[in-house]
This record gives sequence, structure tokens and C-alpha cells, in this order.
Amino acid sequence: MGSMWKMLRIKRLLLLSAALFLWVCSSSVTASVTYDGKSILINGQRRILISGSIHYPRSTPEMWPDLIQKAKDGGLNVIQTYVFWNGHEPSPGQIENEYGPVEWEIGAPGTAYMKWAVNMAVGLGTGVPWIMCKQEDAPDPIIDTCNGFYCEDFTPNKNYKPKMWTEAWTGWYTEFGGPIPYRPAEDLAFSVARFIQNNGSFINYYMYHGGTNFGRTAAGLFIATSYDYDAPIDEYGLLREPKWGHLRDLHKAIKLSEPALVSAYPTVTWPGKNLEVHVFQSKSACAAFLANYDTNSAAKITFQNAQYDLPPWSVSILPDCKNAVFNTARVSSQISQMKMTPVSSGAFSWQSYSDEAVSADDSDTYAANGLLEQINVTRDASDYLWYLTDVNIQPNEGFLKNGQGPVLTVMSAGHALHVFINGQLSGSSYGALENPKLTFSNNVKLRAGINKISLLSVAVGLPNGGSHYETWNTGVLGPVTLKGLNEGTRDLTNQKWSYKVGLKGEGLSLNTLSGSSSVEWVEGSLLAQKQPLTWYKTTFNAPGGNDPLALDMSSMGKGQVWINGESIGRHWPGYIARGNCGSCSYAGTFNEKKCLSNCGESSQRWYHVPRSWLKPSGNFLVVLEEWGGDPTGISLVRRTSGSVCADIYEGQPTTKNWHLLASGKVDKVQPKAQLSCAQGQKISQIKFASYGLPQGTCGSFHEGSCHAHKSYDALEKVLEENPHLRHVMVPVGFTLTTAVVAWLVIPLLLKSYYNESIKGTQVTPSAPFPYKASYWGALEDPLRCLISFFALSLAGYLIAPLIVSNYVLPAWKGAMMASFVLFLQRWKRGVFAHAFAVMVINETDRTNLASLDTLLSNAIFGLGLLALAAAAGFSMLYIAWITIAGELVVLLVGKDNLQNVKYGCYLRTLELVQVGDILQISYHKMNCGVVVSAHPSRIFPPSSSAVPAPRGYKEAAIKSLNMKR
Ligand SMILES: *[C@@H]1O[C@H](CO)[C@@H](O)[C@H](O)[C@H]1NC(C)=O
Ligand SMILES: *[C@@H]1O[C@H](CO)[C@@H](O)[C@H](O)[C@H]1NC(C)=O
Ligand SMILES: *[C@@H]1O[C@H](CO)[C@@H](O)[C@H](O)[C@H]1NC(C)=O
Repeated sequence: MGSMWKMLRIKRLLLLSAALFLWVCSSSVTASVTYDGKSILINGQRRILISGSIHYPRSTPEMWPDLIQKAKDGGLNVIQTYVFWNGHEPSPGQIENEYGPVEWEIGAPGTAYMKWAVNMAVGLGTGVPWIMCKQEDAPDPIIDTCNGFYCEDFTPNKNYKPKMWTEAWTGWYTEFGGPIPYRPAEDLAFSVARFIQNNGSFINYYMYHGGTNFGRTAAGLFIATSYDYDAPIDEYGLLREPKWGHLRDLHKAIKLSEPALVSAYPTVTWPGKNLEVHVFQSKSACAAFLANYDTNSAAKITFQNAQYDLPPWSVSILPDCKNAVFNTARVSSQISQMKMTPVSSGAFSWQSYSDEAVSADDSDTYAANGLLEQINVTRDASDYLWYLTDVNIQPNEGFLKNGQGPVLTVMSAGHALHVFINGQLSGSSYGALENPKLTFSNNVKLRAGINKISLLSVAVGLPNGGSHYETWNTGVLGPVTLKGLNEGTRDLTNQKWSYKVGLKGEGLSLNTLSGSSSVEWVEGSLLAQKQPLTWYKTTFNAPGGNDPLALDMSSMGKGQVWINGESIGRHWPGYIARGNCGSCSYAGTFNEKKCLSNCGESSQRWYHVPRSWLKPSGNFLVVLEEWGGDPTGISLVRRTSGSVCADIYEGQPTTKNWHLLASGKVDKVQPKAQLSCAQGQKISQIKFASYGLPQGTCGSFHEGSCHAHKSYDALEKVLEENPHLRHVMVPVGFTLTTAVVAWLVIPLLLKSYYNESIKGTQVTPSAPFPYKASYWGALEDPLRCLISFFALSLAGYLIAPLIVSNYVLPAWKGAMMASFVLFLQRWKRGVFAHAFAVMVINETDRTNLASLDTLLSNAIFGLGLLALAAAAGFSMLYIAWITIAGELVVLLVGKDNLQNVKYGCYLRTLELVQVGDILQISYHKMNCGVVVSAHPSRIFPPSSSAVPAPRGYKEAAIKSLNMKR
């Protein structure tokens, strides 16, 4: 590549990207890394490796430990980074970025160069395998790898090389002028599960944390300062939920399957249209992946005699070929909505300095004939290049009389242009990523004599990939014409032009404290507003706390921002995102245009201010504004979570309690969602709760066709009673299965007992004793009621933390006795009815029988009263322990909450908080979901509000745990 200096600021630099295995938890220093056709081997062990790209220049060193810890918590074993050679050797540089496409373009010389690079790399003897992204002809021993949104169909060029996915795109970059792309977590997880089920053994998320293009290091032309990438860790270093959590759950499921994955190739079967089953069966392990590729329909797959429900466009993972522990389309992790809140320290107090248009006869300009390519002149020392020329206008020009100025037309290769005539801004124009070229065409005001034409051409990034960079021009390359003169059109293209790199303020280093003292700044009523080429400065104190910070630049146009001399990047909120955003389904093949947000808003409004660049006080903030803006509208904001939500389904596969499932002790575990706020926040408000079929997404949920109307009250009540909740468990459920057993199966069962009983006793001379009158028949309703009682109570439950264990036994007694009384009454009634109906009896017997009936009825009524008395021991709540599916469950029927019981809601408080509150939800209902969202707010000071946990409540939790063991 000839133009060496041109490729300095590139997205990523690699020809051969050595997998940098930064072992997060490695204890031994020496390790051997090799590979075979299945996977990378570490110390002779095949491994499924999960990696994530975190680019070191896109965050501050102070953020790295936290980012790496979050990556580890998210289930990653590898951190990947490109080497940003432009940062290490700013000039001259060299471009090496996905060389494959260049080689296709230029042919033999490209192949020769690639081979030279391979020999050089292998010759280094690093002791670890080398890989080449997208290099299909990578010679041995180099592993060729895949980059893309999906890579399941990729195969390496030799069957003894492992199948590796070096860039699994988690989202896409934002461009100035474009909307913000996002990729649904369900589809990302789906693509990874498909890759793994098709022999994949290494995956690297690009990006796991995208970060920020600080300074002028755009990732390419027109790429925004934010390089957030919709990554699992957001630009600010906060978890992006549910993406981070959903991938964490996916990684758990993959790790559980690892023994089978590394020791067998999959056997593939197709149980139906769009359905696929992959089974990895080795001697000692078995893992299965069940896939439904249909974009609209859910499917049921019968696999090894069990049935599995698969939502559209999803894969379920069964690490033991039995239990589905994860489905890519069922998100268990919480959804967090982030918000930007202005810090309270007040508005900035600004001073301004007006830069000025340069003219051709200024001292430090450089003259040439004709128009020069911009980067060739600036050498990227600045975004700005002045193109300066003079235009002589004769006094007899017609336009001077009729007032209609001539039209100046400037054709530029990009990227933005400001036109000054005699020092006055005449207009601006800019291109876009898909077409960086621009044309400025406007009537301009010229006067008789010499006119100064000053064109300020602005670069926004350097190209990031592809071949023939020498053809990628920037700047005013012409033609430049003036139309509407007496002579017609005057072509200015080839006349004498003068050049000046950068703005005057840049030359004076106005972005630094020392440089800024070299000019006079004005303030108050003299403060420049909506003026082009203006510098603004102020100082501010760092806000307390650890929340990430940003500048809200929405009142500004385009320029650059520095804090304490460090550039936080280019701002360009004046560039509004074009396009139609609409809604986006996770199902169906994803591309970077499919899911977009922010249409009609600034492409980028907020600009990350790293905490570590701030001092406690006196931070020096400088804004260079090209277009003109209102600096008083700039504010410092902190990024926090505003709302957290969870939306979960019964039958949702979960890795939680995997050991229970695997042990065979239970066949189903209750899925649970966990809601948590950041440090220093507490749950302040429940915004929405629906047990049923809620619709919508986090922030805009609404009730669906099925909704328990007390869902909200139950949660609200707990919050009222425990304003400083740390952990709340909200299993919301309704065991339909149990109720169905009670009402359908029990009568059948009892009837068959009854039939058995009369077969053996054919002694009755007349008609057989009917079922209704038998004690089998009499058991029917009481059993139904008893079971329903437990089922419904299990389902619906609201607990006040104080009263748990005291009421366990009375509740059991009450329920049992009530059922027994009902049984006696039924049986007695059946016996007597039968007697009256079939026995041939005289009047005396009839009277005696009738009084016995009455007597028995009274006795049974008395028993009923006793049962009630037992129950009366707890006027507030009925409580019971019951064992269902091997788990001990606390069960309460609250007097005030019968409605909740009926519909199924229960809540259990575990502890009280000072910082970081967690709300846990689980549910128990078929094909119904539950949604709970909570509104966290801050606690000040965080440590002073701890409240001791009630005793009774903790006991309940401990008992429950003991039973599980
Ligand atoms: C997995 O790899 C084996 C061996 O290369 C191959 O035979 C098989 O077709 C692959 N299976 C899938 C699903 O890609
Ligand atoms: C860059 O500038 C040099 C002179 O400094 C000139 O020789 C060369 O042709 C220019 N290249 C382009 C692409 O304009
Ligand atoms: C009624 O029948 C019982 C035997 O079934 C007998 O002992 C009794 O004397 C009878 N009473 C009358 C009034 O017939």
C-alpha cells in the first residue's frame, strides 16, 4: 500500500491476529497451546473458548479491570484485542485490515505478500497458533477464521483446523447521520448456538465492549465518537441488559455441554420442516441442541421420548440430552433501561473566543496552482484544511446592480465544508458515509475588487478497509466555479490556491490551560452564541459517586471537545439520524440495517467523559464549535439505570438448579428472574406488574388478554412495607398441572378404586353400592379441594415478613381437617341417600335412620367447627409448608390477598438493603408470563439506611434451603 500515512486511524489493525489468550484465571505460567480439527487445546485439553473484543484505546486504563471482571462474570475465558498500531507508531503507518479482500482485488502480488507475512509470523516462534481472519487461502499452520453476523456454515480450509469465529458481531457501529443499530440478544444467542452445534469451538464477540473513539480516532469515515456497538458492556462500561445476562446464561449452557462438545462430532437429524437436532454423544457424555429455524411458528420436538417447546428462530441446549437449560429466544435475565440525568452542580459558566477565517495573504499559508488532496496536505495533523483564493470582481459586474450575487459551486470529495466569503460564513455542506462527496452551491455576496474566498474543508475520519486507498480522496478537488458574472461562469479550479492546515485556535493550543491564556476570552453578554468557529471554555468540579459521566451536547452543531487537555472526541449532534426505525423482531436473518433506533434525533447526543480524566475540582473543559451553537445548553449528565424489568415464562429453560435437574431428583425447576439495581440505588416504585400475558417491552408494557388484576398490588404492598428492600423473591405462579390433576385425574382414579372394590365384594344382593355413595366417591371433592387448596396457595402467596413459621402447622391442620369433615359429610350423605333409595324399609326404620342422619350431620358440623378453630389461630394468614417437586415451599393465604391467592402471586422478602437491591421473580404458570418492573432511585447516604431483617422471614429462607439439600 503506497500511501503509508493515509491509513493511520483505522478501525482495527491486523494481518495476522494472534489470538491473545489473556487467561483471566490462569494459575500456571507455562501452558501449551495447540489445535486439532475439533478445537484449540490448552495443555493437551480440548476447550470450547468464549472470547470478547475489548479494545484498549477505546476505554481508559482505569476502566480495564472492571471491564475484564464483567467479561469474566459474563462467562468469557478470553479477552481479544487488536493492536492499534496507529496509536503506537502514529506516522508512518501501514494498513493491514482483513487482508483477504485486498488479495482478491490485486491477485498474485497480494498472495505473495500474504505468504511473506505468514512466514514472518510463524518464524517468530511464539509457541501459540496463528490465525487469519477471512483469509480463505491461509497456508498451514495458520488457521483461517470467519467474521460476520452468522458463521455456522463456515468451514476452515483444512479438516485438521478448528472452526473459529473471530468476529461475532454483537451489533454495529453508529455513523454520523445514521440511526443507532442494535442486534436483539435472542438473535445473537441463536447465531452462537448454531455455530457451536455445527462444530464451532471458538467464538469472539466483536465487540464485547465497544467503547469510545476518543480524540480523532474514528473507526472510519463518518463513524461516530461512540463505538458502543450495542455490545454486552455498553460504551460507559455498564452492563447492557438483557444482552449481557442472556449471553452469560448461554455460556453456562455451553460450558455444561463442553465435555460432549469436545469429544464427539454431532449427529444431525431433521424431525420436521425447519427443525434440526444435533446430538454430541461420546462414551461418557451427551449434549443435544434442538433448533427451530422457522421465523414465525413455535414448534414441539420430541427427542428421546420427551417433548420440548421451541419458540420461533431458537435453539434449546440440553447439556445431558435430557434437560433443556437454555433457549436462545427465552430471556431470563433482567432488562435495564438506562437514563441520562443532569448532575445537580449547576450550569457551566462559559467564556468564548472567536476563531477567524484565514485568507490567502495570511503569513503562514502555502501556495500552489490548483486544488490539492486534503490528507496529502494535512497528514492528518488536523481535521481542518483551509483552501484560500482571491476573486477579483470588476465594478461593472451586472450582479452588483441587480443585487443577485453569483452562484459559487464547490465540488468536494468530502467530508464537510464551510464557505467563508470575506470572512463571513456563507454556508455549510456535508456528505455521509455512503457518499462522502458533497457539493456546495449558493448565491454569494461579492463586492467590487478583491474578494477573499476561504473554504474550510473538514475531514471526519480516515478510511478503515478495502483496497486502492490511493483513490480515496478527501477535500476540495473541484471543480470550483462562479456563475452569474458578465463573462458567464468563471472556473476557479486551476487558479492559484493557498493552503493552511488547522484552525488558528488549534495552533495556539486553546484546548489546553496554558494555551488558552494566550488569547482574550469574553463572557456574559459578550459570549458568542450561534457563531461559527468559536471556542468555549469553562471549569467545573467532578460530581460525586462513581456513575459514568457524559456531556449532553444537543444544543451544539459540530466540533470537538477536550477535558483537561484530553480529547473526548468529535461532537456532531447537528447531524440528525435519517431513516425509518420502526420495530424489529428478533426472528429472521439479521443485518446491520434491520434493527435501528433514534431516527430523527441526533445520531449522537451524549459524549462519554471518562471519570479518570477528572480531578475533584477545577476541570478545564473546552469546546470547539464549527457551525454555531448555544453552549448554555451543554450539561454534564450521569448514566444510571432508570428502570429494570423482567419478562419470564413458565417452562423457560434455565441453568439455575442444574445440579438438581441433573441429579434426577426433580424434573422441572421453577424459573426465576432477578432484578438488580446498581450500587447506591434502591427499588423505589413498581411501575407495572402483570401475571398473565403482558404485551410490549420494558418501558412500555401493558396488560394482555390474560391478566391477574391484583398482580400489581401484591408487589406494591411489599414495597410499601419494606421501603429499603434488598432482596425480594417474587415467585408468581399458578400450578395448573396440579389443579388439572385434582379435577380430572382424581375422579378417574377413585372410580377405578371403586370398581375394584365392588368386583371383590359381590355380596350385595340387590343393586351394587353406587360410586357416589361409596367412600371412594365421597373422597372425590375433598381431595380435589385439598389439592386445589395447595395448588392455588402455592400459586398465590403474599407474605409479610414477620409471621412465617408460627402458622405452618395450623394451616396444615386446618386444611386437612376441613377436607376430612367434607369427606365424612359426603360419605354419610351417600350412604343415607343410598339407604333411603334402595332399601325396603318401614316407617319406623325410616324415622330412626333420619335421626341418625341428623345426629351424624351435627357431629360432622362440630368437627368442622374444630377445624375452623384450628384455622382461627391465624386470623391474618393461613400458612403451610408443602412439598411439591421435592422443594419446600412456604405457602400463605393472606386474608387481604385472597384475590392474589386466587390469581397466584407471592412475594417473599429475604433481606433489607443499603445498596444494590435485588428483586427476584419466579412464576409457575403454563404459557403465561409475568412481568415486574421496578423503578430504582438513589439512597443518600447509601450506608445509613440499613434496617435489620425480620427474624421470622430469615428462618423461612433457611428452612427452604435445608430441604433443597
Ligand atoms: C462436523 O465436522 C465433521 C468432521 O469434519 C463433519 O463430518 C461434519 O459434517 C460436521 N458437522 C456439522 C454439523 O457441521
Ligand atoms: C501528495 O503530495 C505530493 C507532494 O507533496 C504529490 O507529489 C503527490 O502527487 C500527492 N498525492 C496525491 C494523491 O495528491
Ligand atoms: C319394621 O321392620 C323392622 C325390621 O326391618 C321390624 O323389626 C319392625 O317391627 C317393623 N315395624 C313395624 C311397625 O312394622
